[in-house]
Amino acid sequence: MLAIYSHHIRHGLGSGFDPEPLQDEDIKRRRKNMLRRRLPHLVAERDGKVVGYAYAVPFRKRPAYRYTVKHSIYVHPDHLHSGIGRLLLPALIEACTAAGYRQMIAYVDAENLPSQNLHEAFGFRRAGLLEKVGWRFGRWTDSLLMQRELGPGGSERAVEIG
Ligand SMILES: CC(C)(COP(=O)(O)OP(=O)(O)OC[C@H]1O[C@@H](n2cnc3c(N)ncnc32)[C@H](O)[C@@H]1OP(=O)(O)O)[C@@H](O)C(=O)NCCC(=O)NCCS
Repeated sequence: MLAIYSHHIRHGLGSGFDPEPLQDEDIKRRRKNMLRRRLPHLVAERDGKVVGYAYAVPFRKRPAYRYTVKHSIYVHPDHLHSGIGRLLLPALIEACTAAGYRQMIAYVDAENLPSQNLHEAFGFRRAGLLEKVGWRFGRWTDSLLMQRELGPGGSERAVEIG
């Protein structure tokens, strides 16, 4: 997971910018924390090797937003466009729905067509464009906000998440 993440942070359009290189222990701690809080954290394996992962975190800390998650998904550079995203994203959607969340949000770099296509294929719509919010490789970058309802979404009252 660390190798996948580090690759995309260095070379790609994934949305994270970590000023300090992430360590094994950081990923372990994050994963443990998320699982303890019953936030889905999924890993895809091919031939016994980790080839991708996807997880959801609270959209915002304030309690009013507790039914909304934002997520990330990363596929190993040697396994891109070979169907891993197509496995992970619906599994993550299902896990978030089962956990009682109602909305799912992704911030996708405006130039990241693979991610936009993948998200659109699984029911995410473009909810807005945040212009020039990132600075990377010497220029400003835009972020596309993509959103999808889960289960009844906003059509029913909320029930408390356990
Ligand atoms: C975005 C990402 C997760 C997609 O996962 P993937 O395993 O490569 O995608 P899949 O092979 O399952 O393809 C699913 C769909 O995604 C889209 N897609 C994937 N790669 C694409 C590419 N190179 N160009 C255009 N669309 C692409 C297509 O719609 C594809 O459907 P298709 O197979 O019918 O063409 C992967 O490219 C990735 O990890 N990118 C780097 C990290 C990143 O940007 N993460 C997302 C941050 S928001």
